[in-house]
Amino acid sequence: MSKQELYTSAAAKYWRDTLSDRLPSEWRKNVDEFEADITLKKMGKVDHKLFAETRLRMGAYGQRYDNGHRYDGKTVRDIPFPEEFKGPETYWDAPGMQRIKLPWGGLTPDQMDLFADLAEEYSDGICHITTRQAIQLHYIHIENCPSMYRRLGALGITTREACGNAVRNVSADPMTGVSPTEAFDVTPYAQAIFEFLLGHPDAQDFGRKFKIALSGDKEGSSGLVNIHDLGLIARIKDGKRGFEFYVGGGLGAVPYAAKLFSDFVSEEEILPLSQAVCRIYARHGEKKKRHRARIKFLIADLGFEKFRDMVIEERAKLPHDPRWTAYLKDLNKLDEKPSRPAGSGLKCTGDAAFDFWVKTNVKPQKQKGYVAVLVTLPLGDITSNQMRNLADICRKYINDTVRTVAEQNLLLRWVSENDVAALYAELKAVGLHLPGAESILDVTACPGTDTCKLGVSSSRGLAGEMRSRLYAKGAAIDPAIRDLRIKISGCFNSCSHHHIADIGFYGISRNVGGYVVPHFQMVLGGQFQNNGGAYGIGVGGIASKAVPAVVERLTGLYLESRNKDENFRTWVERTGKATIMQSLQDLLEVPAYEKDKSFYVDWGDVREYSVKDKGIGECAGEIVTLTDFGLKAADRELFDAQLRFEGGDATSAGSRAYRAMVLAAQGLLKGKDPDVPENADVVMERFTKEFHDTGVFNDPYAGPKFAQYYFQAHGHRGQGLDKDKTSLLLHEAQLFVEACHSCYARMSLTETKEAVA
Ligand code: HEM
Ligand code: SF4
Repeated sequence: MSKQELYTSAAAKYWRDTLSDRLPSEWRKNVDEFEADITLKKMGKVDHKLFAETRLRMGAYGQRYDNGHRYDGKTVRDIPFPEEFKGPETYWDAPGMQRIKLPWGGLTPDQMDLFADLAEEYSDGICHITTRQAIQLHYIHIENCPSMYRRLGALGITTREACGNAVRNVSADPMTGVSPTEAFDVTPYAQAIFEFLLGHPDAQDFGRKFKIALSGDKEGSSGLVNIHDLGLIARIKDGKRGFEFYVGGGLGAVPYAAKLFSDFVSEEEILPLSQAVCRIYARHGEKKKRHRARIKFLIADLGFEKFRDMVIEERAKLPHDPRWTAYLKDLNKLDEKPSRPAGSGLKCTGDAAFDFWVKTNVKPQKQKGYVAVLVTLPLGDITSNQMRNLADICRKYINDTVRTVAEQNLLLRWVSENDVAALYAELKAVGLHLPGAESILDVTACPGTDTCKLGVSSSRGLAGEMRSRLYAKGAAIDPAIRDLRIKISGCFNSCSHHHIADIGFYGISRNVGGYVVPHFQMVLGGQFQNNGGAYGIGVGGIASKAVPAVVERLTGLYLESRNKDENFRTWVERTGKATIMQSLQDLLEVPAYEKDKSFYVDWGDVREYSVKDKGIGECAGEIVTLTDFGLKAADRELFDAQLRFEGGDATSAGSRAYRAMVLAAQGLLKGKDPDVPENADVVMERFTKEFHDTGVFNDPYAGPKFAQYYFQAHGHRGQGLDKDKTSLLLHEAQLFVEACHSCYARMSLTETKEAVA
């Protein structure tokens, strides 16, 4: 045993001996079993796939580390690890990410101290707040996980089902309980759903993850019910508490808005009805094709009415469970109390920085004399030292009333108005006084290429750049654009919630003159408010390095040409994508490699975007292939389809979206055979044979998912679809065309490599 191994096992024994008794028995059993699995895995006695699912269900993810090798700017170096893999091409015991779920985002100062310790001892000293109110630690070693789980469990936190095909963190509007506009506090209901469904036998056999959110009110809430598999919005009817009950929302590559299942489900009924939904999803949901496995697809396939009937029938058959209503007797258990007397109004200090911070980071509570204060965390990160300091600040001013926020910040509730200035001073002393929460300054980003294996472009790099440019303007930013949201995902999976941003981006790559260049697809006009009330629509790909200039131009245009009080979404709709893209035209051109190499390096990286590009000769910039032309034609056709949809002509939008897919497939085929015929059936047949069946088209992570969109569209050819279905087809066509671009980029790299070899 090495010194490190000896230390790890001695520490594990210490935590096991000291803490096991303080964990609920079920949680203890889970951790013990996981620890045993690790031992068996080391002995080679557990199948790789089985171990991976066990690990994921405990919230331990694989993490990107350049798949076992890293390009250091000059050469590719291997990172030495044993032979077995963790996920696609990652070693099973390589450093990973631990997701720790926090139901309804609740956090106490003692837990904050613990997070600080865990991040310092096992991670890189940084706690990362996620867009679903969880906390993530990166670079975790699998052998430290059981100790971590015991330490968390002793303070009431479980990581069970934080990942995997299970009920994920049950999130809630962080303002619930103090929001002036809500019907009532949803915290105890969120806690009840979490406790009831955690490890519930009816929620163990899903084809995919299942996300639940609760919100106290319909408007102005960041409960984000609309983007969840199951969502509840508080309502009082005839003096009785209940919920509007929604199902089938979800982001991911193609976003679906949740559908209203019932406009009033009484508080006694929410657990049995949720259970019935889980049973129907587990029994009838797709299990084999991952890309069709979320409940949104089951509802689309069955039809909403049929799905609802099945759930209602299932509910009627459920044997009574006393837990359905037991929690209602103790509904006030989680009620919060202030630790300081109510204040008497916010005092103005005349300090411009403080006043700006108050404007963006201090929110009124319904309880007179108290406010809720947002602590802005750049990119969702807080260091261990800051976390410890913040825990002490909380003990002094508020105590156990902290919540994580979907926009990757922390919310301190129940701050007395009299304490706001003193609190600001203490936050400032530890670097946590940044203004701009819930504004354009506070750009949200997923982990992207930093640590996520699926990342295509550097979302955090771009977000960091955007933040520093926007913060440089700070309070000088016009109030009309200050309230806009920017959200950046490293790929189409939308972990940053780019679909509901005013200005959203997701990472894509494009081939420019034989080089692969990091790009972002821009998505405009989504709505974060109203529970994620509307999804934006893709307008076009932009080189990563051009994005800051594009945002500057775009917001300038909005300011110049908006009608009085016109919001961004309405402005986008009125102006139209064609005009918007036209006005950005000069920023969309990617300079040749020889002219400006900076476009070929992503934000926050010193390396060229693709190491394999390095072998390309100088003539590469001149090559324009038939595939380039074909893909360009597909982009144009798709853009036209989107314009027609925008103009209210869903019928021709549908057939054009399908046509864009055919053109893209044909473009790829032209790389092999310039004489590929126009006939759509022949294109489909040859694409299937030459790109799908051979696996050439498969995305390294999403597999053949995007080809399936094309196959489905070939069935109906974009005809006879209603508005909702056409909107989905537009998203799917966009993803398929992007996948053709990526496939072409991968093929060019292989060819280049072969030519150079
Ligand atoms: C190891 C890194 C990660 C991987 C491999 C990953 C994978 C994915 C995938 C595949 C989806 C699409 C889901 C679907 O279509 O079914 C997704 C969605 C999502 N992920 Fe992640 N993710 C990662 C990290 C994160 C992080 C750090 C966050 C929070 C900051 C996050 C939050 C979300 C959210 C909010 C969605 C979209 C909402 C929805 O599913 O409806 N993910 N993720
Ligand atoms: S959006 Fe893509 S890159 Fe970002 S965290 Fe999600 S899966 Fe990873």
